[in-house]
Amino acid sequence: MTSAPLDNESGQALIAAAGAAPSLHNCQPWRFRLDCATRTVFVHALPQRAPALTDPDTRAVHISIGAALGNLQAAAVHLGREPVVRLLPRTERPDLLATVRLAGPPRAALLRRPDLYEAIWRRRSSRLPFSAEPVPRAVLAELAEATRLDGADLYRPGPCERRALLDLTAQAEQRNIHHPGRHAENLAAIAAPGTHVGIPLYALGPQDSTGVVPLRTFAGPTDGLPRERAAFETDPQLLMLTTRHDRRADWLRAGQALQHVLLLLTLHGLRASVLHQALEWPDLRARMVGPEYGRCAPQMLLRIGYGPAGCPTPRVGTEPPEADGQEPAAAPSAGSTRP
Ligand SMILES: Cc1cc2nc3c(=O)[nH]c(=O)nc-3n(C[C@H](O)[C@H](O)[C@H](O)COP(=O)(O)O)c2cc1C
Repeated sequence: MTSAPLDNESGQALIAAAGAAPSLHNCQPWRFRLDCATRTVFVHALPQRAPALTDPDTRAVHISIGAALGNLQAAAVHLGREPVVRLLPRTERPDLLATVRLAGPPRAALLRRPDLYEAIWRRRSSRLPFSAEPVPRAVLAELAEATRLDGADLYRPGPCERRALLDLTAQAEQRNIHHPGRHAENLAAIAAPGTHVGIPLYALGPQDSTGVVPLRTFAGPTDGLPRERAAFETDPQLLMLTTRHDRRADWLRAGQALQHVLLLLTLHGLRASVLHQALEWPDLRARMVGPEYGRCAPQMLLRIGYGPAGCPTPRVGTEPPEADGQEPAAAPSAGSTRP
């Protein structure tokens, strides 16, 4: 095992990869600190960046940070290192959600998909209509296997369940639209031009004119946002991601698995969008997984398929890595982070 410190360029690439992860409303609720000497990335939560009414227990913050961990793992392998991830490493530091240490050469199992890193830069949420072409069984099997290795489960709901999940999502969407506080948070999620947090209006895409796919409108009943309408899939292909338990570590694992799935989909030329609304209402969330799946906690609902790529969504810039291991005082400053 090599003990050489990480060079500056590799450190920058790691942090940029982490910051390219998806997050609820693109709130980017994280701060990364790199200790080059020990080749360790410290991953902190910034829950104050997340919408408090939409995510009161910070489950979505943890999922977003889990996704960033997934990117860090892919970037470590790309750098020829084994990522050693510790979740919630210090009980006295609840904001420190994980550490990722870059150890010696990666295990053979991690080298099966060396192109995951490249997919980080091509992955985007696509809120556009997909074709009816079915996702191949072999791809679904690969996704399920990857999810299992990350400590979560993935399944494709059957026709009745799909209808029920879309109905729960539509109910949640209506509640969000009519709830003054959540409506305000949805509106605040739309990024002002030139800012690096939130979702630009152009990335939201059209609304489904047939009403089958209840994409988040990010609006209230009378906002009249300038949105086109288009016909989406009549029977959208859905994936449900679950975990056995519902603790903070499970949420992080769900995020790691989510990102693994999204990167693999990207490599297979597939797109995905997130339907998270029903997961934000405890009573609706409790109805998202039927008893036939045993005791498990629903963590994420995805719509997948073949279709156009989504628009790029900007990210807050990141600080240069620190060689001395000191904590920076402030959150990352604005700016683009792509290497
Ligand atoms: C926990 C979580 C919940 C999300 N919920 C939604 C959602 O309900 N609707 C949606 O359109 N996008 C949702 N997203 C996707 C984010 O809006 C998206 O990741 C972010 O805007 C960055 O854009 P990108 O994924 O294209 O990089 C969610 C993402 C995460 C991680």
